[in-house]
Amino acid sequence: MVEEPEENVDSIDSLLSVDLPAVASGRMHRLPPYLFGRINALKLKLRREGNDVIDLGMGNPNDPTPKVVVDKLAEAAGIKRNQRYSVSQGVYNLRRDLARFYDRQYGVSLNPENEVIATLGSKEGFSHLCLATLGPGDVVLTPTPTFPIHVYGPVIAGANVIGVSLNDGEEALLRRMDEMCRTVSPRPKIVILNFPHNPTARTVELGFFEEIVQLAHRHGFYLVHDFAYGQTVFDGYRAPSLLQVPGAKEVAVETMTMSKGFNMAGWRIGFTVGNPDMVKLLGAIKGYYDYGIFQAVQIATVIALRNCEADMHAQAEIYQRRRDCLCDGLERAGWTVERPQASMFVWAKIPEPHAQMGSIEFAVECLAKAQVAVAPGRGFGEDGEGYLRIALVENEERLRQAVRQIRRAFPVA
Ligand SMILES: Cc1ncc(COP(=O)(O)O)c(C=O)c1O
Repeated sequence: MVEEPEENVDSIDSLLSVDLPAVASGRMHRLPPYLFGRINALKLKLRREGNDVIDLGMGNPNDPTPKVVVDKLAEAAGIKRNQRYSVSQGVYNLRRDLARFYDRQYGVSLNPENEVIATLGSKEGFSHLCLATLGPGDVVLTPTPTFPIHVYGPVIAGANVIGVSLNDGEEALLRRMDEMCRTVSPRPKIVILNFPHNPTARTVELGFFEEIVQLAHRHGFYLVHDFAYGQTVFDGYRAPSLLQVPGAKEVAVETMTMSKGFNMAGWRIGFTVGNPDMVKLLGAIKGYYDYGIFQAVQIATVIALRNCEADMHAQAEIYQRRRDCLCDGLERAGWTVERPQASMFVWAKIPEPHAQMGSIEFAVECLAKAQVAVAPGRGFGEDGEGYLRIALVENEERLRQAVRQIRRAFPVA
């Protein structure tokens, strides 16, 4: 019997308490205090007491990986040559199939030899790319609120991060970034983007990427685009790849993951693609840190990329129906929510008369009174205050139940 692991919470779980052990390095002191301690402790306590907590806190897919992929893993795991160390950048066939996937999906041509690298999930690729490209004195810009690693990847690498608010929309974001590139010294080296966006679920059109690539060329910065939700799209919306912009590969890489679109979060496999210099640097640093992903996982991923596009679309439709179910329910309960066109999240404004409580307190009370776990917007930076991020990781019945419990606990006039 294998033990069930304890519940996890997003990447936020890796943030720290204020008192660090004396052995901690200086860089550990640059990481923020643990904002979610109370929420996690309470969730654990409620669960241990036998309560049925509906967990919409973390973007952890709850549906299964396509069966053909699991079957391929089982078959490949038994083959002796797959049990050895693999290659750090990923086997050639995997990189080639990822390139073909990009070509079919986005019309983007990638050379599997030097423009594609496999990573142990996209977050690992992103973090090591930060270490390979950033150091003390470097400046990074990223929209806020932010998925934590987009700030703390650069911070761990020693860089300074300047958050640029996304709350006034993409045009304002572009204007502010342009202005900062003229005024900030030293000039920003890397701009980190993430559309469809976590936590706000905002989406962009290709025109936005065209403008930011122009800015990158004009001001001499590089772009790293986290495309984790590129395959989780609704209502006919198609999320553009940044690499669709002509000339993007000269200045940009994109990180892609099997975790979300293909329900392979636990498998730990993703990719960094695009600019060959950045891909090369990432490969070089990874060569020191790891011996590659379990080869059987890589082989099974080839099957996912080749044969599971229909599963990917079907999964997106499941999220779309859940989005409608949650948004309909919250609207009936008196909340005003925007329906996202992509991602696994609804970014919901805390309604009056509960807004003054703040998002962390609301999330704690939501657990205590409604037994529903949600992520407080403040956990994604100050610009997330006043909002909750609700993950669509339970079925429609459970989402309806969650809304009923929230409605009862937090009546809106
Ligand atoms: C925006 C974003 N990037 C990256 C990740 C991590 O993806 P992976 O499982 O590929 O490391 C997540 C997971 O929640 C995410 O929301």
